[in-house]
Amino acid sequence: MEDDWKKDLVGLLVKFREILGETGVFVDEESLNHYAHDETENLHFLPDIVVKPGTVQEVSAVMRICNEYRIPVTPRGAGTGLSGGALPHLGGVLLSTEKLNRIIGIDERNLQVTTEPGVITEVLQNAVKEKGLFYPPDPSSRGSCFIGGNIAENSGGPKAVKYGVVKDYVLNLELVLPTGEIIWTGANVLKNSTGYNLTQLVVGSEGTLGIVTKIVLKLLPHPKYDLLMLVPFGSLEKAGEAVSAIFRAGFTPSALELVEIDALRIVSRFVDSTAVPVGDDVAAHLIIEVDGNHPETLMNEMESIAALLADYGSGEIFFADDAQQKAELWKLRRRVAEAVKIDGYTIEEDTVVPRAELPALIRGVKELGRQYDFEAVCYGHAGDGNLHIRIKKPGSQFSLDNPDVIPALNALFKLVKSLGGTISGEHGIGLVQKEYMGIVFDEVSLELMRGIKKLFDPNQILNRGKIFNS
Ligand code: LAC
Ligand code: ZN
Repeated sequence: MEDDWKKDLVGLLVKFREILGETGVFVDEESLNHYAHDETENLHFLPDIVVKPGTVQEVSAVMRICNEYRIPVTPRGAGTGLSGGALPHLGGVLLSTEKLNRIIGIDERNLQVTTEPGVITEVLQNAVKEKGLFYPPDPSSRGSCFIGGNIAENSGGPKAVKYGVVKDYVLNLELVLPTGEIIWTGANVLKNSTGYNLTQLVVGSEGTLGIVTKIVLKLLPHPKYDLLMLVPFGSLEKAGEAVSAIFRAGFTPSALELVEIDALRIVSRFVDSTAVPVGDDVAAHLIIEVDGNHPETLMNEMESIAALLADYGSGEIFFADDAQQKAELWKLRRRVAEAVKIDGYTIEEDTVVPRAELPALIRGVKELGRQYDFEAVCYGHAGDGNLHIRIKKPGSQFSLDNPDVIPALNALFKLVKSLGGTISGEHGIGLVQKEYMGIVFDEVSLELMRGIKKLFDPNQILNRGKIFNS
C-alpha cells in the first residue's frame, strides 16, 4: 500500500533522529507549513516530515530508510522555484539541503570551485569574485536561491546570453542515489569524452535522479568593466525584432533583457522607485549590457548597438551612469516576477523560441490572451529567445488542474512548439508543466526518460510525479 510507511511513523522518527539528531528532524506545524510551498503560483502541499541532513553520509542514510519503507522524498533548496519542483505533493519526507551550506574550496590554479548545494548563489558569486573570478549564471533570485536548486533546474538568468547557463559550468557532481549509494558523476576537467555524460544528465533533472551533495564548477576571470542601458520602444513586437538584429550585426551583449511596460510600472511601484524614467507612449524596454576589459571598445559597442536600434523605433535611451544606477535598474529587473505575482499575475510560463521567432511569439501571446480571456505581461531573457509570460485570469489563481486555464496553456505551448521552441528555458517542468510534455516530446522520448528515472530510482521514491507521471 502507498502509505503503509505511515503506520510506524513514531518508529521512523526515532530512526531519523538517530541519524540526524533533534535539530535535523521536524514534524511541528510551523515547519511543515514553511516547507509546503515554493514560489510556484499559490500552491501548498504539506510534507509529513522535514529532515535537514548536514553531511553526505546523513543524506545517504536518510535515503536508505526512505527507499526501504517506500517513503516519497522531495528534495528542496531555497524554495524559490517556479515550476513546483520542490513541492511535496505526495506528502512524505521533505529533504532540505540548507545545512549543506559550505563552500569547500576555490581552486585558483584551475579556476574551479567546489561547493555544497545549500550555498546561496550570490554568496558563491561574491566569494569567487574576491579572488577575481566569475561564476556567471545569475537567476533573478540569486540573493536567496541555492546553487543546488540552480543545478536541479539548469537555471540561466540575464548573463546566459553571453556566458551560457548552469550546465555550461558544472564539471562534476557528488550524488546520493535514491537507493542511498554515493557516486561522483564525472571528473574535475574541462573536457570529458569518457562514457555517458552523467553529470549533464543530472543537471536539470529537477531532483528526480538523486540528491546532489557536492558540486564542482568551472569559473572564468571576472570581466573588469560593464556598461548598461535601458532602451524604450513604442511597440513590443518592434523591441522583439530588434533583439535578433543586434546579434546579426555581430554583437553579443552580456545581457539582453526585455520588459513590457506594465511589468516595469508594476515593479517600480512595488519597490517604490522613480530612478528609471518611464515615458508615456512606451510599450516595452530592452535592457542591454556589454562587458569586457577595454572600456573604449565597450563604449563603441554600445554606440553601435544604439544606432542600430533607431531603425526599430527606439526612443530616448537611459544610460546607467554609475554603480548605483546600474544596481537600481537591475534591482527593478530582478524583482519583476515577485512584483507582478503580487499584482495578480500568478501563473508564470517560461517559453523559449529560436531568437528570431520572438516577435511571432509575442504576437501570438497577445492574440491568445484575447481568445482565451487572460491578461499577459511579458518579460525575460530576449537575447536567448526566452520569454517569461505572466498570466492574470480573473478567478484563476493557478494553472495546476485548472480547466479554466489548461486550454489556453495548451494553445500557448502548441504555438511555441510550432515556432521551433519549447515550454521551459530555465524554470523546469516540475509539477505544473508536466501535463504539457506530450506537446514537445513524442511517446518514444518520454519512455526513454521514464526508463532513466527507473534505473536511478527503482522504487520511484524521489520527487515522483515531477517532470512526468511515472
Ligand atoms: C526572471 C526569473 C523569474 O527572469 O526567471 O526574473
Ligand atoms: Zn528568468
